[in-house]
Amino acid sequence: MRVSIERLTKRFGKVVAVQDLSLEIMDGEFVALLGPSGCGKTTVLLTVAGIYRPTHGWIRFDGKVVNDLPPRERNIGMVFQSYALYPHMTVYENIAFPLTLRRMPRAEIHRRVVAAAQLLQIEELLDRRPGQLSGGQQQRVALCRALAKEPDLLLLDEPLSNLDARLRLLARAEIKRLQKELGITTIFVTHDQVEAMTMADRIAVLNQGVLQQFDTPEALYTRPANLFVAEFIGSPPMNFLEGSLTVHGSALRLTGPEWHVTLPEGLKSWAEAVRDRDRLILGVRPEHVRLAPSEEGELRAEVYVIEPLGRDVLVNLRIGSLRLRALVPPPFPWKVGDIVGLHFDPAHLYLFDPHTGVLIGRS
Ligand SMILES: Nc1ncnc2c1ncn2[C@@H]1O[C@H](COP(=O)(O)OP(=O)(O)O)[C@@H](O)[C@H]1O
Ligand SMILES: [Mg+2]
Repeated sequence: MRVSIERLTKRFGKVVAVQDLSLEIMDGEFVALLGPSGCGKTTVLLTVAGIYRPTHGWIRFDGKVVNDLPPRERNIGMVFQSYALYPHMTVYENIAFPLTLRRMPRAEIHRRVVAAAQLLQIEELLDRRPGQLSGGQQQRVALCRALAKEPDLLLLDEPLSNLDARLRLLARAEIKRLQKELGITTIFVTHDQVEAMTMADRIAVLNQGVLQQFDTPEALYTRPANLFVAEFIGSPPMNFLEGSLTVHGSALRLTGPEWHVTLPEGLKSWAEAVRDRDRLILGVRPEHVRLAPSEEGELRAEVYVIEPLGRDVLVNLRIGSLRLRALVPPPFPWKVGDIVGLHFDPAHLYLFDPHTGVLIGRS
């Protein structure tokens, strides 16, 4: 099923939880709503489910406006962060319950419960009560209950956040595989950018109820629309250096209080187009910072903290009051307090407008 969110605004009194949001979600697509706590993700989900009514705007299923359609007529499967399992019912009864409400014949209910339980490999848990299950098992039961409805649309609200790190990794892969296998249009809410990046076909990044960018994981990483997305996507986050543009012969430099960076060819034309701006922000991801002996490199920085991560070493660096992060392969030959030279990969640099936060261009 295709889901269209059109110019959706949702207010609670004076709080604008969602502002003028438009998203076109294709049939069978897996879309993540990503943003920090309080940015309006759950509100969007509950509005699509019909539990909230839009203050303004429209929700369409396959082109048809459903604003007035009550939740139980929407054929939606939902999984909440809390799982919302009924403690006095067995797993079987929990999964069957929404189907019973629809007055479905008993045999059909049984067929669906068993089929969904097989799909999620929880057949041996059907006689237990939720209190006798681990967190991971409860999560599976909640997902099973949503899938047994054979929904046209699956809505998942932070379904993995109560699992420990190892289980979360397993469940992430499992949900992604299931979604593709079943082809159910899915909206997945999360505040975890890794979850969104690894699972979704496209991600809608929200901040304070406002859509920042709706794009593929790769596009969000390589072409973030603004500073918010650039900082939110990617771990550790992008480094930002704010300075002013200065001309040195044919070269353009971004100059800060204790540093300067000569802009590579790929950024020069972008910078020239905004020469009237007093300030600019240069963005570079930690994985695109290389360290060298101190006599090399335009920038010199002090090694401040060294964090070995196994596959990489995360190095915190300091240039006066500026802090930078570099992600470099081991072994790391320097120690805290050493002065190193820095190289920024000229093919992966970004320029942002500090006033609006908007991406001006990238190399
Ligand atoms: N039922 C409600 N009544 C009043 N304010 C609400 C209600 N639901 C959400 N809000 C407010 O709307 C904003 C968005 O909330 P929510 O959609 O729950 O964010 P998220 O799921 O991204 O954490 C927050 O400021 C929250 O306090
Ligand atoms: Mg929420």
